[in-house]
Amino acid sequence: MSAFTGITVDREALIANYATVASVVAPAGVIAVVKADAYGHGALECAQAFVDAGAEWLGVADIDEALALRAGGIGDDVRILAWLHAPDEDFRRAAAADITPAVSSVEQLATAVDAEVPRVHLVVDTGLSRNGAVESEWPELFALAGSLAASGARTRIEGVMSHLSNASEPDDAAQGAALERALAGLATVGVVPDVVHLAASAAALSLPSLRHDLVRTGIALYGLSPVPGRTSAELGLRPAMTVTASVLRLIPVRAGEGVSYGYTHRAERDTTLAIVGLGYADGFDRAFGNRVDVAIGGRRFPVVGRVAMNAMHIDVGDAPVAVGDEVVLWGDPATGVPAVEEWAAAIGTINYEIVARLGRGVPRRMS
Ligand SMILES: Cc1ncc(COP(=O)(O)O)c(C=O)c1O
Repeated sequence: MSAFTGITVDREALIANYATVASVVAPAGVIAVVKADAYGHGALECAQAFVDAGAEWLGVADIDEALALRAGGIGDDVRILAWLHAPDEDFRRAAAADITPAVSSVEQLATAVDAEVPRVHLVVDTGLSRNGAVESEWPELFALAGSLAASGARTRIEGVMSHLSNASEPDDAAQGAALERALAGLATVGVVPDVVHLAASAAALSLPSLRHDLVRTGIALYGLSPVPGRTSAELGLRPAMTVTASVLRLIPVRAGEGVSYGYTHRAERDTTLAIVGLGYADGFDRAFGNRVDVAIGGRRFPVVGRVAMNAMHIDVGDAPVAVGDEVVLWGDPATGVPAVEEWAAAIGTINYEIVARLGRGVPRRMS
């Protein structure tokens, strides 16, 4: 018997996390963010789980991701918002599939009007300096928005959104104030949106004053903490992703022998290496070697030597490990296995990056 090598996503955890987030932020609603293949968890399957949990809104980066959800069977009773667009995006395919674009410029709004998109959200930049109209562009954008109703356009401004930098509480508050300025500016031209949304997971969970009508949560729904220093369990969340691998081979090495490329590790004693078939081609950083642990049979063992393209080495000492045994790289730490945050900290990054960068070729299943 060989253990499963790949990503297992716990559907019940997704549903429980959705319920937790929805109850924390109520009466605000939730846009379940499933961009980037649901942060590596599988966009369609996760979208379906969130819809089954009660989600009425899904959020993605671009129209391609939104169309893939519709093609996969997410019906038009579920709203899909997409906020990052190629310069040549004409929005006709968005209109045809009832996808709501969030537009960031006069050009994008005009294009959406031409495409007869029924509803758009305006994206205003309040300090992230990424997507969204910056404050100096607001007068022209708002003037066009304000003229739509009188011009007989089919397109209506349904929502206004911005995105936080999560730099500090005062910075978040300043962005909140900038959003209020944008809403005031829109009101002067007669545009009062049905929904305003600013907060992603971090603010949704911890800054009630910034929740507005909807929050756009991604990481929290996958059961991971958006806040370094606060664990999933402390937030009432369950990590949905477990990564496992099967022991492919057992290699005896003698004290002093080098392990893997460049010999960044030498065996300190006679020992046994377990080889698993996941490497940097699958999204596991080469630098994880000598910095993280895995769990086998409830015990922890270190990953040693450089992670290779398709493999990594685990020093299992004289433990009774056999070919085919299950190796847990990370999962829900409440079950005693390493947390993904340990892998993130090992290479100086955040949990988001570790899960989202997993290779699309890594097998994935829902449990
Ligand atoms: C515009 C926007 N909204 C919401 C989110 C979800 O963020 P989080 O995963 O922190 O909840 C993202 C993700 O980066 C985003 O880009």
